[in-house]
Order: sequence, then structure tokens, then C-alpha cells
Amino acid sequence: MAATVAGAAPIEHRFDSAEALVAALSDHIATTLEQAIAERGTASLLVSGGSTPAPLYRALARRPLAWSRVHIGLVDERWVDAEHPDSNEALVRRTLLTGPAAAATWVPMKTPAPDAEAGQAGAEAALRAVARPFDLVLLGMGLDGHTASLFPQSPQLARALDRRRRPLTVAIDPVTAPHARLSLSLRGLLDARQIVLLLTGDAKWQVYRRALDTGPVRAMPVRAVLRQTRTPVAVYHSR
Ligand code: 6PG
Repeated sequence: MAATVAGAAPIEHRFDSAEALVAALSDHIATTLEQAIAERGTASLLVSGGSTPAPLYRALARRPLAWSRVHIGLVDERWVDAEHPDSNEALVRRTLLTGPAAAATWVPMKTPAPDAEAGQAGAEAALRAVARPFDLVLLGMGLDGHTASLFPQSPQLARALDRRRRPLTVAIDPVTAPHARLSLSLRGLLDARQIVLLLTGDAKWQVYRRALDTGPVRAMPVRAVLRQTRTPVAVYHSR
């Protein structure tokens, strides 16, 4: 696979089927984690929720890795109980932290705190206990150009995008989507050795192409990830 270069346009990997994408990306993630373990003794993977990545997580969970050396956490969480169907933690526990991969260390984001704002300090501390830069951050994207929980209409968006601010996490009112959220800030997302943006379907490809055009980041927050030069970004797309 071609190496990604920070500062260059994202490297695009396109597949004719979701199955081919899952095979290639689960290979890539497993290799990345293996290399991290070989070089540094531990590895970290921060993943997204939503509906797209479940098949990838199921494929990854079957990989024979030294899972006990891997930290797995979220890039964002909806502030709902773990039993709620919209819980990202529930999705990851169901699809990724199963079989041998159940030996991985979970990095908690949702806590019993009453709301995302009250829970932010705990999630921040849990993430800061993991070695950084994170080895791989896996992002998705919504049709409105949000990524993680950085939503265009959110009153906290400017704060979340301000890389001079120290916190890796930010409480978000998404406005255009259900549930208060806790999300990695842009600073947190970019504190990674690499970012993978996972997209399926023609509609998301069109949105991604639009995000590459000039236009304000606040209109399509994924632009903040696509335009930065700190952390290499690879885009994986299938029909
Ligand atoms: C979340 C996400 C979010 C997601 C996109 C795409 O928890 O909502 O992490 O950023 O990746 O909304 O979601 P779909 O895969 O469901 O289209």
C-alpha cells in the first residue's frame, strides 16, 4: 500500500464492493496495530460509531493480534446509556470487542456523569492515559460534512476546531442530530499517526468531493481534517 504523506491530498483507496474494502482496511488496521506493538509494545485505535463501520469491526475482531496490548476507544459518543440502541460503545462492544479482541483495553468515553459536559473531564483523563500519538483514528462522515461529532450547526464547533486549545475532547450539542455528544476535538483527532476516513456509497463520495473544494470549514467540519498538514489521511471508499 502506498504510504500517506502529511500535507499532501488524502490518499484515496476505492473499492467496487464493501467486502473488498473491509478486507483491505481490516488488513491495513491489523498491520498498523501489529507494527505499533512490535515497535512500542502497545497500540491504540480510536473508532467511530454510526452504521458504516460494523462489518469492518467484525472482520477486525477475527484477526489474530496481541489484543491484550491494544487500547480501543471512541472518537465520539452519544450521551446515552450503554443499553441504548444509539450507543457507540454498545456497537463497538458488540462488533469489535468480541472473541480474541475482547482482551483489548477499553478506553471509556461515556461515564455515569449526568451529561456530556460533566463527563468531559473523565473522558479526557481516560484518553490521556493512552500513549500518544494514537496509532490510528478511524473517522466516518455524515452527508452534512460532519465527522466525529463535529457538526456544522453546533454552538461548540469553533471551540472544537481551535487547535490552540489543549483539551482532546469537547462536549457537543449537535443541534441537527439526536443526543448530546462527547467528541474528540480537532486537536485530539490530529494527535494520531494516521487518520482513516471510511465512506460508503455514491452520496458520501459526492459530499467528500465537495469537502475538498474551497469553502468554509464551519459548513463542512470534515474539511478541517482534510486540509490539515499534521497527520496523514487515507480515504477508504466503496460503492
Ligand atoms: C457518530 C459518528 C459519526 C459517524 C457519521 C457517519 O457517532 O455519529 O462517529 O461521525 O461516523 O455520522 O455515520 P454513518 O456511518 O451512520 O453514516
